[in-house]
Amino acid sequence: MSNSTAKIVIRNTGETVETTPGITLFKALRDANIFVPTICGGKGFCGKCRIQIFSGNTSPVTEPEKKKLTDEDFAQGWRLSCQALVEGDMEIELPQDTKDVRLYKAEVVALEMVCRETRRVRLRLMEPPTMEYLPGAFILLDIPPTPEKKQGAPRAYSIATPPSSKNEIELNVKHVPGGFGSGYVHNVLKLGDMVSFSAPYSGYPQTCAVNDLICIAGGSGISPVLSILRHMKETDCARKTKFFFGVRECDDLEYIPELRAMEKELEAFEFFSIVENPGNNADEKILVGRVTDAVASIVNDATGCSAYLCGGKGMLDACCRILVDLGIKQEDIFFDQFS
Ligand code: FES
Repeated sequence: MSNSTAKIVIRNTGETVETTPGITLFKALRDANIFVPTICGGKGFCGKCRIQIFSGNTSPVTEPEKKKLTDEDFAQGWRLSCQALVEGDMEIELPQDTKDVRLYKAEVVALEMVCRETRRVRLRLMEPPTMEYLPGAFILLDIPPTPEKKQGAPRAYSIATPPSSKNEIELNVKHVPGGFGSGYVHNVLKLGDMVSFSAPYSGYPQTCAVNDLICIAGGSGISPVLSILRHMKETDCARKTKFFFGVRECDDLEYIPELRAMEKELEAFEFFSIVENPGNNADEKILVGRVTDAVASIVNDATGCSAYLCGGKGMLDACCRILVDLGIKQEDIFFDQFS
């Protein structure tokens, strides 16, 4: 190896990437159009970018990694690729579920506000024109540089459409003050623009299992749940399912007519909308309070159930605790956490 080049051999694909030592493994792979999952965009707190390193694992373990990986993980060579530096030649393996991830180009064909802070973006795939994905999958949208932020970066957004929609996908993007990705989607993106993204990441393969399902979403965390429910509806899935959708104010509610219609169409589906501060809203179908309280009071026993959750860390942690108390095994709880 010369001082200016390092070789990364990917054992399970047979590829070799040449890169410059000193950058993160995550960046080296991405520069070579090899995509590793991320929600946080490489900041070290989502834990999604795990990669097993078999040789050349020399850079010191970082604090974010100590929070996401166990001693056993470290002993087996697992690192967060956004934290591990390439310091010389390496041998790695890519996670199995990322082997079909590739780069897509798409056109923005619809944009609309679906509630106070969330913009729905519909993308028509151009190159390649179709994508296979699981219900609840997400994409990494490439956010271009701005005058303030000189380097573009990927941001994770869940797909709301079902897998049958192979040529067009929908995202719901909440506006976050100062947010790099949401600022672009809300203030810059317009109809007819071309965007690029890598996908598909993750997804929920057990959508139509036979045991009961509890879905919980906070705010724009509704997207992957919509994808799952729409898929269940299209495939006449009779799985007994309860969906708890929690928001702060009534103006944050979205997709309510579709979900209430689904309740009538799917015999085994129940929908609960929960609002923390409903103000003067008189809709008697809305439950007042926190989503965690609603789950605890409506679900008496969740033994044998599975759960799918999407939202912020605080809500997910609280919901996981309640679901485990109600009898769900930790390994039957699947979740997507917002960055
Ligand atoms: S991308 Fe590495 S922790 Fe999120």
